[in-house]
This record gives sequence, structure tokens and C-alpha cells, in this order.
Amino acid sequence: MAEPNAPAPARIAVGWSGGSGIAYGLRLVEVLLQSGHEVHLMATPAALRVLRHEAGLVVDQDRPDLSALFASELRARLFVHGNAAVEAAPASGSAGIRAMVVCPCSMGTLARLAHGFSSNLLERAGDVALKEGRPLVVVPRETPLSVVHLQNLLALARAGAVVLPAMPGFYHRPQSVQDLVDFVVAKILDRLGLQHPLIRRWQTPAPSADTTSPWHEGEEP
Ligand SMILES: Cc1cc2nc3c(=O)[nH]c(=O)nc-3n(C[C@H](O)[C@H](O)[C@H](O)COP(=O)(O)O)c2cc1C
Repeated sequence: MAEPNAPAPARIAVGWSGGSGIAYGLRLVEVLLQSGHEVHLMATPAALRVLRHEAGLVVDQDRPDLSALFASELRARLFVHGNAAVEAAPASGSAGIRAMVVCPCSMGTLARLAHGFSSNLLERAGDVALKEGRPLVVVPRETPLSVVHLQNLLALARAGAVVLPAMPGFYHRPQSVQDLVDFVVAKILDRLGLQHPLIRRWQTPAPSADTTSPWHEGEEP
């Protein structure tokens, strides 16, 4: 039974494309599921290659079983869609999907989203989010950025998307790669207005506190 004051679960679409940083995408889906949300997940073929190169996770390219990447108790709320399945729920504005996150977002997917290509389910789902006026958060990972990249980022932002680059900060004094990953995932969840367990809020540092961290962990205000 849900806790009395628990926030309502949301239906969130997540797209993994072939940018570096699949660790962000994996952690995002994990935290969404752990927080009780329903996740509709789709991945491009390039994302599956990145999954292999960066995380050592090998999935069948033709029938990727992405649910196997997550703990069994989380899988009931996870719906994995083939990226060619343009009839799947995220392709429709009436599927009740509240928001979409493309994480990581390759420059190729970024370009196609910025120009409404809708050539696969991920791109169609992003296009639907824009046309329905629902949050579309893209998490690009590329450096340096060409003028083409910058123009596409601006075009997508002007169309209503939130551009949230995979740029972890260092002011929270990360101790591990996981801390860096969680920093970016927390930013995404904040932008979606979803409560999460990665909360670390900045508070005004004491004038003499050179060594103590001004971060504190705790409940959202
Ligand atoms: C290990 C690896 C890392 C990559 N990193 C990036 C990246 O950070 N940004 C990017 O735009 N493309 C990156 N690529 C290239 C994209 O995967 C490639 O352009 C692909 O065609 C994108 O396809 P998609 O947009 O359909 O996912 C990477 C590829 C591999 C294999």
C-alpha cells in the first residue's frame, strides 16, 4: 500500500541514444523505478553498443532484453519498447506519459529531435512530448561542440526542450564516479519536479568553513 503522503507515481519515457554516458541512463531508470514511477524505455542500436563498450553489458542487438539490467523487484514498472515499434505507447500523445528524458543524447539524435524527424520510436516520443507541451529533457554528451551542434541545441531549446548537459559539478566534492553520475541524475529529476533519494542541497557556507562541506543531505523543502 502506498504511504499516505507519498507523491503520485508518474509515467516517464526514457530514451537511451548512442552518446557516451550510459551510466547516467542506467541510474536514471533505476532511481525512477525505485521511486515507484513507471518507466517506458527505448534505446537506439548505437546506445546498445555504448552499453557494451562502457558498461560491459551485452544485450542482443535484435531483441534487447533491457529489463534484465534492473533488479527483478523493479521490473514490474518497466516497459521496454523496441525502437522500431512506432505503435508503442510513447508514440502517442494519449498514452498518459508525463515527461520524457533522452539520456544520454547523441548529437545524431539531438539533430533529428531538433528537426522533427521521428524516424524511430525514441524520436517520435520526443516529438510527441514537444507537440503536447510536456517536458522533454535532453542530456547531451559531446565535446567540443561544433556550430552544427550548438544550432541544434538552440533549435531544440526554442522548441521547448530542456537542455541539461551531462556536466557534473565538483562543488559537492565527489568521492566516486557514482557521485558524479548521481549529480547529473539528481539534476534531471529536479527538473522533472520528482522527489528522489539523491537529494543534496547547497546551503550558505559558514564564513570560516573552508574545510566542511556546505552540502547537507535531507528532505526536500
Ligand atoms: C563508445 C561510444 C561512445 C560514443 N560517444 C558519443 C558521444 O559522446 N556523443 C555523440 O554524439 N556520439 C557518440 N558516439 C557516436 C554515436 O553513437 C553515433 O553517432 C550514433 O550514430 C548515434 O546514433 P543514435 O543517435 O541513433 O543513437 C559514441 C559511440 C560509441 C560507440
